[in-house]
Amino acid sequence: MLSRKASCDSHGQDSSYFLGWQEYEKNPYHPVHNPAGIIQMVLAENQLSFDIIESWLQKNPDILGLKRDGVSLFRSLALFQDYHGLPDFKNALVDYMAKIRGNKIKFAPNKLVLTAGATPANETLMFCLAEPGEAFLLPTPYYPGFDRDLKWRTGVEIVPIHCSSSNGFRITSSTLEQAYQQAQKLNLNVKGVLVTNPSHPLVITMNRAELNLLIDFAIDYNVHIVSDEIYSGTVFDSPKFVSVIELVMERKLYDADIWNRIHIVYSLSKVLGVPGFRVGMIYSNNETVVTTATKMSSFGMVSSQTQFLLASLLSDEKFTEKYMKETQRRLKRQREMLVSGLRNAGIQCLKSNAGLFCWVDMRHLLRWDSFEAEKELWKKIVCEVGLNISAGSSCHCSEPGWFRICFANMSQDTLRVAMQRMKAFTDSRSSAVESATVYRLRTLKHAASPHYFLQDL
Ligand SMILES: Cc1ncc(COP(=O)(O)O)c(C=O)c1O
Repeated sequence: MLSRKASCDSHGQDSSYFLGWQEYEKNPYHPVHNPAGIIQMVLAENQLSFDIIESWLQKNPDILGLKRDGVSLFRSLALFQDYHGLPDFKNALVDYMAKIRGNKIKFAPNKLVLTAGATPANETLMFCLAEPGEAFLLPTPYYPGFDRDLKWRTGVEIVPIHCSSSNGFRITSSTLEQAYQQAQKLNLNVKGVLVTNPSHPLVITMNRAELNLLIDFAIDYNVHIVSDEIYSGTVFDSPKFVSVIELVMERKLYDADIWNRIHIVYSLSKVLGVPGFRVGMIYSNNETVVTTATKMSSFGMVSSQTQFLLASLLSDEKFTEKYMKETQRRLKRQREMLVSGLRNAGIQCLKSNAGLFCWVDMRHLLRWDSFEAEKELWKKIVCEVGLNISAGSSCHCSEPGWFRICFANMSQDTLRVAMQRMKAFTDSRSSAVESATVYRLRTLKHAASPHYFLQDL
């Protein structure tokens, strides 16, 4: 009776990992009302800087009242429906994007398409760049939402570029090449490579060598590059964030075909902490992509009062300056709490310089080296330790034993409780004789290059 889309489960929400959410919803942690509840650590949300935005709103009461200079804009905003977006908002956005990139690039508002978050931005790009049954290559591990965003409604396929912990999960020419060959074997026409920079879930920025490799690959194979830079504003440590578009400019490729095959995705859901406002964007040098994506944005426009509010907020340079600096400081501090708490429990994180979470190595806690064992450990951590975290296999990691743990959606006190629970868990395990031999063997097997891991703070 229903369409194939309605009856197939490729959306991903029904995966076994939904169990974590279900358990959390049945028993959510509250410091006073439910101190034994499950702590939510899968939400990549920044809840550390609301006070800064709230204090700005208090100082600018006209904005929430939809007024400018005391005059109500209610009627014009209520009627506004142009999918090109409010010019003031687009101007504020391009300046803000440039600021995040150290003002090294100037963005043009006419190359920007507004979308209701990065989710529809990525999907829209797939609709613009590929036919159903064509493929994009994605480095693993990757954001689990991409299976929904890139594939579900578009019919596009994802072919993984398998990255490994042995080089800190960096892409190499051979992994790119292998993924391309794999697509050929599967009879899939490759239309592009999609990367997240900084990476989700690794939260590391791509280095120049990787970006150059990517650009050369896209030139050689005549494919697109989609760079999802949703975490670019969260970079709190060196090395600085470098966008692929910056390198293409540095290489003066303005007249080359590749210039029209680079597409950037951004959103205000992460560092600004307003995912509920649903604001995202595509930035592309390709006129046809911009025109088509703008037409498609009718299916997910940003409401005019949201555009009005954020245009005022983001064009206040003093605010953005202070907000970014302070938020990055707070993210770094919270990340350090997580890293040292985990280290105290004998667990290491991949060395990162951005983001709202860490990529955590728990391979030594697996009972054996398999995704089954990863799932077993994950269930234990959710149901017994009381921490809802994400298993690496949900991010398509090729190695069992990695986990993603979010830190910016909670207070320091809650994070402290989470770390105490983790320590109690690993203490109880290491005293168990049963795992000792297996543990030692596994540690030897996975003696990955230590400089990729956080040793010091
Ligand atoms: C890499 C990446 N892209 C896209 C999204 C979706 O973002 P939005 O809330 O703006 O739709 C997320 C959200 O976590 C993400 O991590």
